[in-house]
Amino acid sequence: MPILITGGRIITATDDYTADIYCEGESITRIEPCIDPATLPAETECIDAGGRLIFPGFIDPHVHIHLPFMGTNACDDYETASMAALAGGTTTLIEMICPGPTDEPMAAFEEWNNKAAPLAAVDYSFHMSVVRFDPLAREQLRQIATERGIPSFKVFLAYKGALDLSDEDLFAMLTMAKELGIIVTAHCENAEMIDAMQQRLLAEGKTGPEWHEPSRPTAVEADGLHHLAAMAELTGAHIYAVHTSCEPAVRAALDARLRGVNIWIEAVLPHLVLDKTYAEQAEFEGAKFVMSPPLRDKRHQAVLWGALAGRTISTIGTDHAPFNFHGQKDMGTDTFTKIPNGIPSIQERPALIYTHGVRTGRIDLHTFVDACSTQAARIFGMYPRKGDIRVGSDADLVIWDPDYKGTLSVKTSHSAIDYNGFEGWPIQGRASSVLVSGEVQARDGEFVGTIGRGRLIRREPTHF
Ligand code: URP
Ligand code: ZN
Ligand code: ZN
Repeated sequence: MPILITGGRIITATDDYTADIYCEGESITRIEPCIDPATLPAETECIDAGGRLIFPGFIDPHVHIHLPFMGTNACDDYETASMAALAGGTTTLIEMICPGPTDEPMAAFEEWNNKAAPLAAVDYSFHMSVVRFDPLAREQLRQIATERGIPSFKVFLAYKGALDLSDEDLFAMLTMAKELGIIVTAHCENAEMIDAMQQRLLAEGKTGPEWHEPSRPTAVEADGLHHLAAMAELTGAHIYAVHTSCEPAVRAALDARLRGVNIWIEAVLPHLVLDKTYAEQAEFEGAKFVMSPPLRDKRHQAVLWGALAGRTISTIGTDHAPFNFHGQKDMGTDTFTKIPNGIPSIQERPALIYTHGVRTGRIDLHTFVDACSTQAARIFGMYPRKGDIRVGSDADLVIWDPDYKGTLSVKTSHSAIDYNGFEGWPIQGRASSVLVSGEVQARDGEFVGTIGRGRLIRREPTHF
């Protein structure tokens, strides 16, 4: 059914104006100061957006949904993750495919896509993790990137023995990425340092979640970042540092940029609004706040927000990785190294960034849109189909109520997880209607859409 949205204030990464938007089929077909409904098909649905902001659908460039990890499986599927994402205003997800060290890449791609296709209500794509780089894997990775429309790899410098790659393979993989025009996203922490620090702390009887951060301090992340950047400098590959958490890591990335390395920086919601005292809470409560890189000292938040405001940090993702408190996080009751890592926020990201970023004046509305939508579309080869409001773009739109006041809770979260790290947190502003490819999929925090309607978005290599 065609949709006419009238009188909303359209905010993109660059523009701010009031106009009517007409969506027909899956795209935006008209944007004009005033569109007369009498000239439109009788079945057109009209949405009055007076007093509301209209953003391009938000894109989360870093989520985990199907995630076999640390001896367990993340607890969302594409149905619950889609409902949560849409309720918050996120219309496109890029999920990390994380195979085991002996799995074939093509089989992993099929496995992840088979999980997503029947249940996705959001549009989606993947970053393909490279956990082996033998000749068979190399050939399949090339096919996934060029024939399946997945021109971004993921590499883990952390998680020794599970997901990490040798330097020899890392160098060869970056060389191939450069040749194919693929961007390499990377979790930058030095795996050997973490392993040694974990052993030392555990030998000292330091076993609680509060020791997670000391086991991987900021130097570990900065070292990982520098290592990856040096490899990119030599190979010419384009790289994207995921979940950058602290000043030394941002500085290492900037240093690389000054040397001519093509590097983009991602922040994720938890590091922007939570600090390490959350992981230090008593009674194992801190386990809810264990992720990697860990929550840092509060002073790093100002650096991250400042780097966002100056657009040094390009994107804000979530690193949504949901593990229940009961039955999953508590696998690490006696040993913090066994706590499954992740602080989910697939639903909460837009409202929390709006509340703590825009309303506090740390970032403006354009930076909000740029970091939560446009840059992800540009960097990962979906622009201007996604990430903008213009004729011809997908009709992925968020009609935003800037005056809404409410609180976050596990009760109103659509994720399957049994806790909310932001329980009771106040928010101001939320998505009142969310459209994906021309259909309303969420209203006022509720999912009203169609499971299985989401599409795998084919992307093209752009990083030559
Ligand atoms: O703690 C995290 N980040 N969990 C998910 C896996 C990863 O490192 O991205
Ligand atoms: Zn990671
Ligand atoms: Zn992640």
